[in-house]
Amino acid sequence: MNAPTSPLPPRVGVGLKPQHYVPALEAVSASTPLSGGCPVWFEVHPQNYFGAGGPPHRWLSAFATKVPLSFHSVGLSLGSADGVNFQELEALAALCESHAPAMVSDHLSWSGSGSNRYPDLLPVPYTREALDHFAAQVDRVQDRLGRTILIENPSRYLAFAEDEMTEAEFLHALCARAGCGLLLDINNIEVSASNLGLDAEAMVDAIDPAPVGEVHLAGHASEDHAHGPLLIDDHGSPVSDATWRLFERFVQRAGARPTLIEWDTDVPAFDVLLAEAAKADAIMQATATVPEPTHALA
Ligand SMILES: [Fe+2]
Repeated sequence: MNAPTSPLPPRVGVGLKPQHYVPALEAVSASTPLSGGCPVWFEVHPQNYFGAGGPPHRWLSAFATKVPLSFHSVGLSLGSADGVNFQELEALAALCESHAPAMVSDHLSWSGSGSNRYPDLLPVPYTREALDHFAAQVDRVQDRLGRTILIENPSRYLAFAEDEMTEAEFLHALCARAGCGLLLDINNIEVSASNLGLDAEAMVDAIDPAPVGEVHLAGHASEDHAHGPLLIDDHGSPVSDATWRLFERFVQRAGARPTLIEWDTDVPAFDVLLAEAAKADAIMQATATVPEPTHALA
């Protein structure tokens, strides 16, 4: 498989939220860098910047001159049976041209069919037919953007009886077929493993680090049900202890990678994000035993 790859620095980043524009820009503009945990890159959902101009674009441009950006799309709907959403793809291409992000990613999921669009990242069956289709859609996106993208492993709440391979086998085959990279969300592995009765450590160990260009860490909610807890991937709380342990396990094997603290609901004060980021940075600096990647995705 390809060499380790990412044009993002192998340090910590945070999701950029409008309520944090001022303290975040002050932090990355400080003449004396803040202590560990100060993000050295930011991730945004490009769909929040598809409007024409105005303050959101001015803020995004201000950050783009200071730090690398990662565009984490939630709207390409790559797994839809009728193919990628071309309206979203054209808007994403225009934003990439205007703000030159270091990285672009989307999800192993689908969000609509025909004129029906859903605000969810719905699961894809792990079959050879779905792999053929998904790889072809990734090809179309990469051709249009003129760059390699990352695909994120999903949080799952069900599995398909028709599955023909494991999630890791599907993702590795996708990377090999389409030449894309992998965005490894370790919270999503904890959520999927708990909900589907799988072994989270085995799922992490099954991931080939070579194509992993970015890592996500986030919190989740838990609902009590008669058959046991249901974990919900809501990005609304601190990273769980189990996810931190899985992250440490991955970093011990893979080395430091660009790692994002993802917090999208009940967004806390910026200092709270910095504390989570400092924890991720400390784990990478204390645990990483593998040399940092030196090659960039094409
Ligand atoms: Fe994620």
